Amino acid sequence: MTILDGKKISQKIKDEIKQEVELLRQNSILPALAVILVGDNPASKTYVTNKTKACESCGIKSILYELNEETTQSELLALINTLNYDDSIDGILVQLPLPKHINKDIIIQSINSNKDVDGFHPSNVGFLHSDIKGSFLPCTPAGIIELLRAYDIKLSGLNAVVIGASNIVGKPMAAMLLNEGATVSICHLQTKDLSLYTKEAELIVCAAGCVNLLKADMVKEGVIVVDVGINKVNGVLVGDVDFQNVSKKASFISPVPGGVGPMTIAMLLKNTIKSAKNRLKQG
Ligand code: GUN
Repeated sequence: MTILDGKKISQKIKDEIKQEVELLRQNSILPALAVILVGDNPASKTYVTNKTKACESCGIKSILYELNEETTQSELLALINTLNYDDSIDGILVQLPLPKHINKDIIIQSINSNKDVDGFHPSNVGFLHSDIKGSFLPCTPAGIIELLRAYDIKLSGLNAVVIGASNIVGKPMAAMLLNEGATVSICHLQTKDLSLYTKEAELIVCAAGCVNLLKADMVKEGVIVVDVGINKVNGVLVGDVDFQNVSKKASFISPVPGGVGPMTIAMLLKNTIKSAKNRLKQG
């Protein structure tokens, strides 16, 4: 069994990003990411801090907008509009979830799709599903593809099961695997018999947010397992997979922490650099 070491692979990517930032700076471009956090969801605060710290460690400027819970949708739209037209900003990220009084779909659609480093804008989602290369890809599934690639895992023809059908992970993950030539099933909360799918799977991406969802008796020998879960149990971070027992049957498995999480952040930095390079090209 081989551990899919996201910490190690993401560090390599970050080292490459540092060099790209240096080149951009030599061309008078300072890559910059605007991060907007509305309200005080503690998990979101941690994620946002990790993202801004990672930017700074690679020489990318990050500007954090911490808005209070009572911020109105119009106020948020006004800030996004200002950032859309600010030529010194390459990426705009609005941390989700948003407070209930704000319509997330309207917010996502208001972001300039050329600065949508999360890859959530319907225009970028459309490019992904049409397999048109060059758009921004959502960071978590893009990071998973890179992680699997780093271990020379061939995806073409693989029987893959994605558990979870969110817009952030499950759906774009399935689209990316399909674009790579895998045969993909998407399972979710309404799936009647999860085992029916997982027992046949050669690759399982588990993104359901449910502790111990994937157990050893649900997988076959040699399976490749990617755990996207971030759950806290008695203050300890755990994934969706019963790692101790599933790892005994798996050929490759990603740990939590140190698997998908650092890859997600590396992809956000990569998307920001991609946008900064576009700025350089446009002169
Ligand atoms: N909330 C959970 N994951 C993400 C993400 O990748 N981007 C944003 N903006 N919000 C999230």
